[in-house]
Amino acid sequence: MCGIVGYIGHREAYPIIIEGLRRLEYRGYDSAGVALFDGTDLKISKTKGKVSDLELRINEEITKTGKLGIGHTRWATHGVPNDVNSHPHISNSGSLVIIHNGIIENYESLKKELITRGYKFQSDTDTEVLINLIEEVKTKEKVKLGKAVQIALNQVVGAYAIAVFDKTRPEEVIVARLGSPLAIGIGDGEFFIASDASPFIEYTKNAIYLEDEEMAIIRFDKKIKVRKIKDDSLVDPYMQELQLNLEQIEKGGYDHFMLKEIHEQPKAIRDTFRGRLLRNEAIIKMAGIEDNMKKFLNANRIIIVACGTSWHAGLVAEYIFEDLARIPVEVEYASEFRYRNPVISENDVLIAISQSGETADTLAAIKMAKSKGAFVFGVCNVVGSSIARETDAGAYTHAGPEIGVASTKAFTTQITVLSLIALRLARAKGTISSSDFRRYLLEMELIPEKVEKALESDKHIRIVSDIYKEASNFLYLGRGFNFPVALEGALKLKEISYIHAEGYPAAEMKHGPIALIDENMPIVVIATKAEHYDKVVSNIQEIKSRKGKIIGVITEGDTVVRKLADHVIEVPDTIEALSPLLTTIPLQLLSYHIAVMLDKNVDQPRNLAKSVTVE
Ligand code: AGP
Repeated sequence: MCGIVGYIGHREAYPIIIEGLRRLEYRGYDSAGVALFDGTDLKISKTKGKVSDLELRINEEITKTGKLGIGHTRWATHGVPNDVNSHPHISNSGSLVIIHNGIIENYESLKKELITRGYKFQSDTDTEVLINLIEEVKTKEKVKLGKAVQIALNQVVGAYAIAVFDKTRPEEVIVARLGSPLAIGIGDGEFFIASDASPFIEYTKNAIYLEDEEMAIIRFDKKIKVRKIKDDSLVDPYMQELQLNLEQIEKGGYDHFMLKEIHEQPKAIRDTFRGRLLRNEAIIKMAGIEDNMKKFLNANRIIIVACGTSWHAGLVAEYIFEDLARIPVEVEYASEFRYRNPVISENDVLIAISQSGETADTLAAIKMAKSKGAFVFGVCNVVGSSIARETDAGAYTHAGPEIGVASTKAFTTQITVLSLIALRLARAKGTISSSDFRRYLLEMELIPEKVEKALESDKHIRIVSDIYKEASNFLYLGRGFNFPVALEGALKLKEISYIHAEGYPAAEMKHGPIALIDENMPIVVIATKAEHYDKVVSNIQEIKSRKGKIIGVITEGDTVVRKLADHVIEVPDTIEALSPLLTTIPLQLLSYHIAVMLDKNVDQPRNLAKSVTVE
């Protein structure tokens, strides 16, 4: 996601915009830029890097101009972070300028059409396509900017929050949204535009939040006009009186980025499969896989390298790939793999998983594997990161910036991408029937709402957290696809509450760890409906007979474990291979609430960093 800011009114625009971008930098920080109208011409300054880099580069003259301007801080989705791909983007005529937060899925076909009409493109972005589409409509239909934006957006598939103005008509700004937030601050003869209210909270508490498929024509000497994009009908917008303070707004009203990111998972998962999971056509479309299909299908094996939570996502992928695509998979800690002189051949495919795309051990493992002839595929969350650039091909998770050190939405979006890859390969190999393939596609589409449902247990989980927050140790148990989730749940608890926790395969208890169990030991058992459910029930009975305190993660409606466990947390039923996307949710919330109750620094735990760029 990106941050957008705009201003039109009686004040100097630049100071408001640049401070607003600083406040929105949590939304994305690959590059930043501003466009200001100085009364006669359009001045644009943009750069790769942070807002502070923009401030260093911007020409002093520009900053003193204009009472109309827009600004953008980028989280790249199309086109690597560099100056040219930074926003704002201008149309071929040089008159229209746009900033955009979102993803235009059909930008390639729109771009091809515009090129045939003589348009030229400087950047690789979908946004530059959109501003030229608006220009094409405006010119061809001989309509005003507002109408041109409305017509153009009806040709667009994807998500957007945009602000557009025409330097030849600097008395208005057009904004529109679908799937990305957009707030309009209503001042006294001035208007503010932003992804959230943080850029204008000190100027006005009155705001309109556009709804999806709405647009607004903002003229600072007149009232705002809000319209439906679909049919241009007028909308009577709801004016809100903001109660939030600045810090709360940056966190979207949540107390911590981690909690915000836990709750962003339905959207992050949906954004990650959007445009790739095409249920109606019953296909999965991922360019990085299609272009390298032979390498995957002829691979002797797939080696997954990663660290921490990403390594846990790799373990889930091992179960899914082998179960669905019947391709041998091994999962390696990158830090071990890079030093142990492994046997690698050119028939091996390496998948590197990394949220930050900057983890030193993972990057080194990639380079070593490439030097031995392996084909390397990356699954990263940061476009243009070192790992994304080092790998031969890849697929991004579209989780948006993950600020909290404890990884949450990265984990579930990594599993989403890896599940899509496994399904695509299974389809290509014929190891999955078309009916099962469709069943998976249908179920994957339901996962975001099932995650929403799992999040509804938050209040109950807080109660359970309060009971066990003083425990010195926890055990986490799971089987099959949920064994890696047990490891991930233990890591979450350790890294933010500093309570010792270990994850084990449930059956492994009797080989030693069961000696740890007594009435002071909470054991989290993932006991959702699955092939080996009865065996997990037996494990629970073994624990119970030793007075262990059992917190069961169960499928909605389960009555068996409910009777045995001390506490249960329900998740919706789903296909077993996709269950990690749901069972991890209560474990994230459990660790979060315990850490908050222990007054720990949840977003920046001691000794940790968000990106481990050292060995
Ligand atoms: C997970 O909560 C931790 N923050 C850590 O284990 C992290 O997953 C690991 O450092 C790997 O980071 P990456 O995904 O950015 O490569």
